[in-house]
Amino acid sequence: MRAYLDRLRRAGGVREITREVSGRHELAAVTQASQQESDAPLLFHKVAGSRFPVMTNVFGSRRRLVEMIGGNDGSFCRRWVEMTRKPAQLPRLVGAPNDLEQIRLTELPQITYFEHDGGPYLTAGVFLAREPGGDIPNLSFHRCQIMSDRELRVRLGRSHHLTQYQAKAEARGEALEAAILLGPPIGLVLAAAAPLAYDESELEIAGKIAGAPLELRRCRTLDLDVPVDTEIVIEGRILPGVRRPEGPFGEFMGYYVPVGDNHVFEVSAVSARRDAIFHSITCGSPEDLRLLEVAVATRTYQALMAASLEGIIDVACVPFTMSTVVKIDQQYEGHARQVLLTALGANHDWNKTVIVVDDDVDINDFDDVWWAYLTRGRADTRAMVLSDVPGFYRDPQRDHWGRLGIDATAPFGRKQEFIRKRIPGADAIDLRTYFGD
Ligand SMILES: Cc1cc2nc3c(=O)[nH]c(=O)nc-3n(C[C@H](O)[C@H](O)[C@H](O)COP(=O)(O)O)c2cc1C
Repeated sequence: MRAYLDRLRRAGGVREITREVSGRHELAAVTQASQQESDAPLLFHKVAGSRFPVMTNVFGSRRRLVEMIGGNDGSFCRRWVEMTRKPAQLPRLVGAPNDLEQIRLTELPQITYFEHDGGPYLTAGVFLAREPGGDIPNLSFHRCQIMSDRELRVRLGRSHHLTQYQAKAEARGEALEAAILLGPPIGLVLAAAAPLAYDESELEIAGKIAGAPLELRRCRTLDLDVPVDTEIVIEGRILPGVRRPEGPFGEFMGYYVPVGDNHVFEVSAVSARRDAIFHSITCGSPEDLRLLEVAVATRTYQALMAASLEGIIDVACVPFTMSTVVKIDQQYEGHARQVLLTALGANHDWNKTVIVVDDDVDINDFDDVWWAYLTRGRADTRAMVLSDVPGFYRDPQRDHWGRLGIDATAPFGRKQEFIRKRIPGADAIDLRTYFGD
């Protein structure tokens, strides 16, 4: 991730903050203000109380995500599928780098994001763990509340692989070893966010993205190997049969998750490269939403491919994770409705609405998507309501039950009537030559 950030810095694409900021709200406030006007990554050189600089918004742009996996037509999903078919790149074990230092957890930047958050959080930590008795490591994101040098409290969503590993270990009365990676190679972050099958290796996918095998080193206190090119590694164990309060925490939907009893991670070692850069992700920010979109949109695209549906161009989540938009090149009458059926079933959580649009609609712009629904046909017959289907795993009041499918395409065979009007030359106008400076 450092090499990637360096490349962007050299090209002038990083906003650098040299004045000291507080980790309590100020860093998140500056990040949010910057994200409202630019998708550039930020590098905070000085965060009060820590010697480690902080990078954020590294993944906060669709364009950059597509470039990271070597795509050139703007479609992340299509390129992702091509990339996963490349020959395997098996990771290989090498020695530990000699600039590795052992530090205390609280030497890291302590960042509190939202007003009512229960304290400082690690939000960009990628968990690396192995199934008890298994040999393929899994990677996934899990936020952690920092309690002390020795203890983190972790949120494990119901369906995740790490949750299943932990349950297996717990049933045997054992702790689950895990390493938390902060600032690993960029391909590894994308692999951690992406929906991979239970027995697929995210480390191999990260190697395919890099075009070279990942280099791993042994952990100091665990029977696990971690990528050498990782800024900071926190080693430890998720304790069996122990749950302690975690939260509140300002989450991606824009509200607070209240305090709940969650898993306890006992820290056994923390190592950092000498000049390590800490990665922070503001939950619900474009950086968080782009990574969640990788998971939801890619899974939907793969389901549409598996159903052999033709004419699928791209999938996005706009305005955010709970709304999937599929762009198609209509092939026959009713095509969009068949796409809707498959896409609505592709994710058991997350896609509360699915909207299908034609190939001339910008699926990354919700105004354009909604305009298509409003202008290309009836409101009633193009909306499909599916009642009583659960929609999000943490939903005790059933607020997220039910799904809505919308066919926002133009009627099949009437393309000529729906050609978008345009003013010749408008795209090439340079206003400065008309208005002056
Ligand atoms: C930035 C980010 C933060 C996340 N935080 C959490 C979290 O705190 N708890 C959780 O259960 N899932 C969280 N997720 C979702 C999972 O980590 C993600 O869906 C992952 O793909 C699951 O991996 P798995 O399919 O190997 O189980 C987060 C995802 C992202 C992108």
